[in-house]
Amino acid sequence: MNNVQSYIEENKEKFLEELKSFLRIPSVSADPAFKDDVRKTAEFVKERLTAAGADIVEIHETKGHPVVYGEKMIDPALPTVLVYGHYDVQPPDPLDLWDSGPFEPVIKKTEIHPDGAIFARGACDDKGQVYMHIAAFEAMNANGFLPVNMKFMIEGEEEIGSENLGTFCKENKEKLACDVVLLSDTSVIANDVPSITVGLRGLSYIEVEVTGPNRDLHSGVYGGAVGNPINILCKMIASLTDENNHITIPGFYDNVVEATAEERHAMNQAPFSLDQYKSDLKVDDVHGEEGFTTLERTSIRPTLDVNGIWGGYIGEGAKTVLPSKAYAKISMRLVPNQTDEEITEKFQKHFESIAPKSVKVKVTPHHGGMPAVTPIDTPEYKAAEKAMIQTYGKTPIPQRSGGSIPIIALFEKELNVKSVMLGFGLDSDDIHSPNEHYGLFNFYKGIETIPYYYHYYSELKS
Ligand code: BES
Ligand code: MN
Ligand code: MN
Repeated sequence: MNNVQSYIEENKEKFLEELKSFLRIPSVSADPAFKDDVRKTAEFVKERLTAAGADIVEIHETKGHPVVYGEKMIDPALPTVLVYGHYDVQPPDPLDLWDSGPFEPVIKKTEIHPDGAIFARGACDDKGQVYMHIAAFEAMNANGFLPVNMKFMIEGEEEIGSENLGTFCKENKEKLACDVVLLSDTSVIANDVPSITVGLRGLSYIEVEVTGPNRDLHSGVYGGAVGNPINILCKMIASLTDENNHITIPGFYDNVVEATAEERHAMNQAPFSLDQYKSDLKVDDVHGEEGFTTLERTSIRPTLDVNGIWGGYIGEGAKTVLPSKAYAKISMRLVPNQTDEEITEKFQKHFESIAPKSVKVKVTPHHGGMPAVTPIDTPEYKAAEKAMIQTYGKTPIPQRSGGSIPIIALFEKELNVKSVMLGFGLDSDDIHSPNEHYGLFNFYKGIETIPYYYHYYSELKS
């Protein structure tokens, strides 16, 4: 293990340069204009996995973007770890809010990252974190220290709902057979407060279209007499939450597992400063469901948010118009035991029922995903805990996160295997936002910690 760690130390610059090359390829999965770049990124991952020592590396075609699969089998008697990650990224928009090009990685120091952070789309989510695994794998192979069998599955459609990965898993159950899925696509509480993510929220994502008159109208000639779809859409959306910020969709909370008083007490012990949270976001107050703390609101409680809303005239100056259509994209974060199917259906029924007769509404479900909780009394989790104790000198806190990685629930269903979410980002790293970045401290800490995971896992499993 000492050799592995010195190899990492000696190759820090090289790993960082390789991450930069990875970040320069704009693998925006949502936008068809980047289709070729997404493929180039898959090829980059293939090339790097091969160089790092994988025996088999394949690019698997799907109906969408390809999946990169790699493996190194040491001995069938050893446990097998499947590393999951994604090489696709969110669109960089709005571009004018970036201080440097989203695909031109630069290193800059920040208050939270005094050792520097790398700024680029995907730096933290998830290329930087995927690359830690490739680097750790290389360091272990170079020193003949690999105490487990390794499989890699790095996909290109996570940011668009992993639509084809379910099929890939179903069709390749044997190839993907493993004892645990290990992924780094989440965050720690702080660089001096390590944590391991033990839960994720599910997601139901919906687009709505409200249609009023058959064409845009003069808002003076018709205004006041014909339903304005934007006014009506706003009222409908406003009615989806009440004065306590509870969601009003009938049956929405039916299947929510309420946390016990002890669980709530424990989760509120995690280090968190509301003042710092507010000052970081430059808001005078937080906003959320009455009766729950910020930590609870972002982990154990379901939510409803409008992600985008549009319609009518949004160009320069003023145009008097009563628009024919209005649109919104609405997402709901779900907690155990809500299912996305159930919630999507309840939303649809409710939204249609509250529309006044003066408009028509069309509800189109986008992707969804199931919430996930992972156990902590297993060798899979304990290995992660020990690895972090080794490199952080502190026991990591198990914490549920507000984000979603729908494929985790699917691994459990299709491959019958639990996941360990050993993430190294910070919530303040601006993933999905302009100026996304990833601390160099975090990047290197991840590379150092991952080999210990394999070490302790093989120990605990034998
Ligand atoms: N890595 C994130 C999820 C995440 C972020 C989990 C931070 C925990 C902490 C992932 O890439 C992501 O963005 N997921 C999407 C859902 C997906 C279906 C588009 C999300 O959470 O919005
Ligand atoms: Mn991610
Ligand atoms: Mn993401």
